[in-house]
Amino acid sequence: MQIHNLSKTPSILNTFMSELRDKTVQKDSMRFRRNIERIGEIIAFELSKSLQFESHRIETPLGASETVLHHSDIVLCSILRAGVPLHNGLLNYFDAAENAFISAYRQHKHDPESFEIVVEYLACPSLEGKTLILADPMLATGQSMVATFEALKPFGTPKAIHLVSVIGAQPGIDYVTKAFDADVQLWIATVDDELNDKGYIIPGLGDAGDLAFGNKLQQ
Ligand code: URA
Repeated sequence: MQIHNLSKTPSILNTFMSELRDKTVQKDSMRFRRNIERIGEIIAFELSKSLQFESHRIETPLGASETVLHHSDIVLCSILRAGVPLHNGLLNYFDAAENAFISAYRQHKHDPESFEIVVEYLACPSLEGKTLILADPMLATGQSMVATFEALKPFGTPKAIHLVSVIGAQPGIDYVTKAFDADVQLWIATVDDELNDKGYIIPGLGDAGDLAFGNKLQQ
């Protein structure tokens, strides 16, 4: 897998990331959602440089302009619910993309430190020959990303696959690296070293879904 870690080059993205992590600033859920969305927009721009472009001639009121444009064959798939702001950010730039949504959640049985990923809702167009962008803001264990990809397989074989995340933990990145083919690309805003016993990224930012949309009752 090819990994594009955007934090390697300091940029305005660091401001958005530090606001996401800051336990005082992150209490403003509108700013939290918007910062994830802004990171989605930056990643969309960086990712767009790896897409295929075709020559186009544009007629202006005063003449003609030759340019290259991307012919959109993108399907953007996000995992509910934390993925929604990242999805919006990507869709702000890939505005002609088709969209897929999947619900994947951690089901804790008796031991609070172990869980399995349960996939329930799935809405997806054909993926045959398309460019699939799979977005999950928190790449923790990597199990949700892999379970989502498995669930998408009946919808066709994409010609290219891009994974997009805001924060990844190194163990999760190692897990998806083993699960996906070598030509899959991961676009990630930053990478943290570890996970805690409950599978949360350390230092991370906490629970992205709760910070974006409010607390949920644990079931
Ligand atoms: N999901 C989150 O929201 N945060 C983590 O740290 C891991 C998974």
